[in-house]
Amino acid sequence: MRTVAILAIGAIALSMGPGRVSAMSEDPPDHRNLAINDPDQFAWQLFAAVNRPASPDSNQAVWETWAEQTVVYSDACEAPTWPGPDGPFAARPSSLVEFLKEHVEQRGVANDPFNALDGDQNVQQVKINRPFFNYVVENDIWYQQGLIEHASTEGVDLPLGAIVYKADWTQITADDKPRYHWRVVSGYDYEQAIGGGGASNSSSAGDGAEPSPVILGLYAFHIVSKATPNWVWTTWNHADTKGRCDYIGCRDDFGVEPSYVAPHRQMGKDYPAGELTSATRILLEDAGLPDAWRHYRLMGTMTRFTDLTGRPELLGNAILEPGFGNTSSCTTCHSMATIGASGSSLSFLKSTQPFEGFVGTPDPSWFFPSQSTAATPIVYQTDHMWQLPQEAGANVRYDCDGVCSSTACDSGGSGFETPTTGNAANASSAPRGAKGTIL
Ligand code: HEC
Repeated sequence: MRTVAILAIGAIALSMGPGRVSAMSEDPPDHRNLAINDPDQFAWQLFAAVNRPASPDSNQAVWETWAEQTVVYSDACEAPTWPGPDGPFAARPSSLVEFLKEHVEQRGVANDPFNALDGDQNVQQVKINRPFFNYVVENDIWYQQGLIEHASTEGVDLPLGAIVYKADWTQITADDKPRYHWRVVSGYDYEQAIGGGGASNSSSAGDGAEPSPVILGLYAFHIVSKATPNWVWTTWNHADTKGRCDYIGCRDDFGVEPSYVAPHRQMGKDYPAGELTSATRILLEDAGLPDAWRHYRLMGTMTRFTDLTGRPELLGNAILEPGFGNTSSCTTCHSMATIGASGSSLSFLKSTQPFEGFVGTPDPSWFFPSQSTAATPIVYQTDHMWQLPQEAGANVRYDCDGVCSSTACDSGGSGFETPTTGNAANASSAPRGAKGTIL
């Protein structure tokens, strides 16, 4: 049998001519997969692709034209539509950061992240690209009941090509503009965003004096891509961000020299910006990125839960996941983005005193009843996307066109309840989630 097979391949090779013969018999197939084998290079390619100007004379980057979560999950009766080029500025404070702040204010915490941070009045945007958005619409997961149905039957599985950009904006001065990616927003839009209103509506602002426009500079961001089943997690800061390499240091094997910057012993200090490598400069220039983008640095990239010896890998941004950088894992925390039959989810912190995250390989007992992992899960994963339980999960369908949906109307409440069987691992010590709806 074997001889026959070899002869057959030889015959095909010969029939394709001498050049092809060597290609077929000696060269291995193309094994390159940047997202897996060189994730830092992949990170910079992603950076260049989504941060380039949306059109030749626009100050908006490509990702700014995508759909913002506060708009996508705002109406439970009507499917969202892809935004036009000049949609209003939709943003609000980060619910994760607000949650941490609330804890610090109420009870104090040993590792208070906020005494080291500026940017108290920052606002956040979470933007999803077209493949992500289409998946949300086609699978009816922009509202709670649709999400629960899809997560518990087919399972949420965003397509290859889905990208999410989570941006943190801070107020800057006109002098800072050359060093930042910036945008000007109306005073009303900014106040609306700070107040947590999400999508703005300038005409409804009060009678008081018009607040002046605000210049917002991009301060910190995550870009994540579904290039692998567990996503590729990349996180970035403006080079001037104090404390940006705290806890675990900054590691970038493609973009910058030196490739590793060790953490300081004292938190919240400046870190050297290093020099962009020539490969990165060329990449940014070819993509037509304005010079301001050279002032951003990759803190690190994450593609798995542990290293090859089983030690948990860590990554957390000083601005976006402040205060628990020594127990912050993008992949582990996001594996806990889940929804249960009653709209509940897992908690995202192991402890709030001091702040501590979950790290390493996910634990089946988080998802399944303790007796058996063959049983129906208590909560269903939402493909690592926290916006699904938090935003779609809070977007409950009640009475569309006067017709009650299966679970709404008669319940009359928010649709959320605490499940009787919580995830064993963290139910007892679990803080309630940022919106008060997450277990
Ligand atoms: C302790 C848990 C936790 C850790 C660690 C964490 N995140 Fe998140 N992340 C959240 C929560 C909760 C949200 C939703 C609330 C918000 O946006 O503030 C979120 C939202 C996001 C979003 C928006 C998409 C979505 O719906 O989930 C992105 C992108 C993201 N995080 C990337 C990252 C990256 C990259 C890292 C690691 C550097 C990271 N996160 C670490 C909890 C975490």
